[in-house]
Amino acid sequence: MSDSAVAEPTVSFDLDAWIAERLVWIDNALDAWVTADRPLGLDHGAPAQLVEAMRYAVLDGGKRLRPLLVLAAHEAVGGSHQAASYGAALRAACAVELIHAYSLVHDDMPCMDNDVLRRGKPTVHVQFGEASALLAGDALQALAFELLTPMDGTVPCVTQAKLCALLARAAGSAGMAGGQAIDLASVGLPLTERQLREMHQLKTGALLQGSVMMGAHCTLPDATALDALMEYGAAVGLAFQVVDDILDVTADSATLGKTAGKDADNDKPTYVSLMGLAPSQAYAQQLLTQAVTAVRAAGLADTRALVALADMVVNRGN
Ligand code: IPE
Ligand code: IPE
Ligand code: MG
Ligand code: MG
Ligand code: MG
Repeated sequence: MSDSAVAEPTVSFDLDAWIAERLVWIDNALDAWVTADRPLGLDHGAPAQLVEAMRYAVLDGGKRLRPLLVLAAHEAVGGSHQAASYGAALRAACAVELIHAYSLVHDDMPCMDNDVLRRGKPTVHVQFGEASALLAGDALQALAFELLTPMDGTVPCVTQAKLCALLARAAGSAGMAGGQAIDLASVGLPLTERQLREMHQLKTGALLQGSVMMGAHCTLPDATALDALMEYGAAVGLAFQVVDDILDVTADSATLGKTAGKDADNDKPTYVSLMGLAPSQAYAQQLLTQAVTAVRAAGLADTRALVALADMVVNRGN
């Protein structure tokens, strides 16, 4: 723990153990759900090559931060592995990772950032071709919503609807896709701090905040909890992209699993280009304090994982 706002708790919390346990749940579920065997019992399967590209994009890599935030928020409002709401939380966790993986596939394509390395492997369009990458992204997005809407009665319809609405909003034109549009339109432009913040809030912050809210909405949390989690998600979501901008400058490609230095090469406006490295690092720490303060004040059932994940987001090395 590296920040005084984070170092406060008296009860020790083993984040590595907490994450390791949940990564097994998440990765097993993704492995089972991103498959040619359609879960609806339809008699036609998916083309093997498309599924191969989807699995390549999703499995074996990534920090799984968004699914971990879903599960942490679920636990913060009293959910658990044993709770009836856990099935919905695991579906939400995987759905958000599918949207994220799709966004990375498209983000790396030549028409966007033109990257050849992702999660330590060749990018999907390098490995499978551009048309397959486009379709794999499309199909991952659709699969995310399929996961949220099981027809077997295991997730109440009201919960399904809320989760779909939250994910659609976070991923769409007022969220991730909108932010990506602003990102592409901003190449070479000197954005103001406010414009840059809005771009980052949309392209990255919205999906992280959405992850937190989806985890919470698997149960029926009170308004105070939801307000606090909204504020936490906004701060962590923005901090995440500020740190991504920082790491693009300070880390190497092997550590990142993606090509370092691409933002400057592509003339992208970033927090580092706008305010410099040290002020960007200070801003990320300020956002961490904001996030932690928000959830600590809200009387939530258990904030340890949320607090530790926020600290990880801001003080990570990749
Ligand atoms: C990278 O996200 C893309 C951004 C939104 C900045 P992550 O750093 O979470 O990527 P993975 O999932 O760990 O590969
Ligand atoms: C991507 O932001 C945000 C997405 C919605 C995928 P970046 O373009 O900075 O992400 P990286 O650095 O390629 O992972
Ligand atoms: Mg990009
Ligand atoms: Mg990129
Ligand atoms: Mg980046």
